[in-house]
Amino acid sequence: MSRLPNDATLRAIIELACRAPSVHNTQPWAWAVRDTMLLLRADPHRKLLHADPNERDLVMSCGAALHELVVAAAGMGWACTVHRTPENGRTDLLAVVTFSPREPDVADLGRLAALEQRHTDRRQVSSWPVPRERLDHLAGLVRDHAVVATTIPDHLRPVVVSALENARAHQSTDEAYLAELYSWTRGGTEDGIPESSLLAAGSDPASYTRFPSGTLADSHDEAGPSAEEWLVLTTASDDPLSWLRAGEALDAIWLSCTTSGLALVPYTQPIEIGSTRRTLQHDLLGDNSCPQVLVRIGWPQRAYQPLPPTPRRPVDDVLHHESSASS
Ligand SMILES: Cc1cc2nc3c(=O)[nH]c(=O)nc-3n(C[C@H](O)[C@H](O)[C@H](O)COP(=O)(O)O)c2cc1C
Repeated sequence: MSRLPNDATLRAIIELACRAPSVHNTQPWAWAVRDTMLLLRADPHRKLLHADPNERDLVMSCGAALHELVVAAAGMGWACTVHRTPENGRTDLLAVVTFSPREPDVADLGRLAALEQRHTDRRQVSSWPVPRERLDHLAGLVRDHAVVATTIPDHLRPVVVSALENARAHQSTDEAYLAELYSWTRGGTEDGIPESSLLAAGSDPASYTRFPSGTLADSHDEAGPSAEEWLVLTTASDDPLSWLRAGEALDAIWLSCTTSGLALVPYTQPIEIGSTRRTLQHDLLGDNSCPQVLVRIGWPQRAYQPLPPTPRRPVDDVLHHESSASS
């Protein structure tokens, strides 16, 4: 029989879920308690009108928060049943979650610890190779979310590099896009991405950052070239349900990487633009699967200092109660 956790526990679970990654740290989610259910909606006021007019990044960000909700609840003694609800291309209601008590196991507690540590580290990774078994493990994790993770072989890396460069060049001539980007990265909002998470001027161009410079120092591993791996997460179709699933899958591999000490950076710029998305589809994948996010993975350099956490909206801003009569 499902029932809601008590108020304090539910707020604690939602506060943890809101540690999820989101595009430009927009945190575009809204949670509502209705009877014994928790509803997840996308918050249209937080949509990136110029970077993400189709709402793919918006819904993926909500998918990441949905995954973190399930992880947080499991770590606090609650199993979630998730009914995913994006219907007819609509993104207003994304998921309905019910809860039932369940003792956490060691894996639940490990994932909860990873959730609290996860962050985006855009610095160059070290020269230590990522073992093939790790990549296979990540591919297995995303399959549970109906998503495919393809490791990009060395000979196809130039396709990724040129998609990243072309996407950046394309967006850098769009004044409205740039104004929106700056409003989320230059203190234009209380949240957004702080300078301490953005690479300092003069960082390696191979970091492919889409952001203006910040204060985060980057360096090369003196032992050798960065041994980064690139994955592309794809879905069979390209609709809000697929984006929600892709966000859940992204978060699942991110928490797994965090547990094993690997740094992960998602890149969505080449997916946001039709021409570069098609290039990835044809030249990288060679089939009809739909790329949703590129992911760079690698071991952080030993000398790196930990990064301060990025800000989050207070729970009262994102959690509401509604009566069963409202839609
Ligand atoms: C859907 C989505 C798209 C993202 N796209 C990018 C990107 O293109 N480049 C990048 O450096 N980070 C990207 N990120 C990472 C966010 O900027 C990051 O999660 C956010 O600033 C919060 O910081 P944190 O992950 O350190 O908590 C993306 C995250 C999500 C969920």
